[in-house]
Amino acid sequence: MQKQIQIPGATLNVEDVGQGIPILFVHGFPLDHSMWRFQIADLSTDFRCIAPDLRGFGRSTVSDGLVTMRQFADDMAALLDALDITEPVVFCGLSMGGYIGWEFARRHAERLKALIQCDTKAMPDSEQVATARRVLAHDVLRNGVAQLAESMPARLFAAETIRTQPELIDETRKVILSTSPIGISAAALGMAARNDARQWLADIKHQALLIVGEHDSISPPVEMLEIQSQIPRCDYLVVSGAGHMAPFEKSSQVIPAIRRFLS
Ligand code: MLT
Repeated sequence: MQKQIQIPGATLNVEDVGQGIPILFVHGFPLDHSMWRFQIADLSTDFRCIAPDLRGFGRSTVSDGLVTMRQFADDMAALLDALDITEPVVFCGLSMGGYIGWEFARRHAERLKALIQCDTKAMPDSEQVATARRVLAHDVLRNGVAQLAESMPARLFAAETIRTQPELIDETRKVILSTSPIGISAAALGMAARNDARQWLADIKHQALLIVGEHDSISPPVEMLEIQSQIPRCDYLVVSGAGHMAPFEKSSQVIPAIRRFLS
């Protein structure tokens, strides 16, 4: 069931379904909560699945300027408050959702039960990548999101997925096309300004699971292996045949891994 939840400075559209230990699913850029639909459909039989659209995305309200990863993480804590969830949650983020996950683990450690980080990075942007994001942030405000919707799927998905599951690509394109340029711009600027999370990894006390697509070119397996070596209690799964959108592309591998991890 989707609902509109008021938090300080924004109204978030949230899917909230099932009962049990809460799993907070946080989407990547420039997407919305629907990328978790396979996980929600399966895991909501045993868990409470909470999947918001971040501010600026999906059907949530838009904030202009720059939205930091820290702000998004604080939004997630405010969302849990608004839903009256006081017990610790499993945080499950993908890519930008993972950048938010590092901030959540640092700033709201008491709210965390376990951390699942999919296809993400701990290091900040190089100057070159940060500059490209600033160009993108400017460009979408001027020219709209059509070009991003056209170019992004080739970066997000494995070639095999593009060939064999074209409906996932179409769906993702539609999500991007319906996203506010202002929201995209604010998050791109926020990612460019994000902290170096490598400094916090050794302090993560919770059990963690890293999931990465075999063909992820944005946050490749070797980079996530490096993250695993820094987190004291951390499992690691490579999803065969998947790109950067592993949970969406190969849910049949990812869902059992999450179930095993949570049992
Ligand atoms: C994402 O999937 O959230 C983005 O690819 C993250 C990024 O551009 O660093």
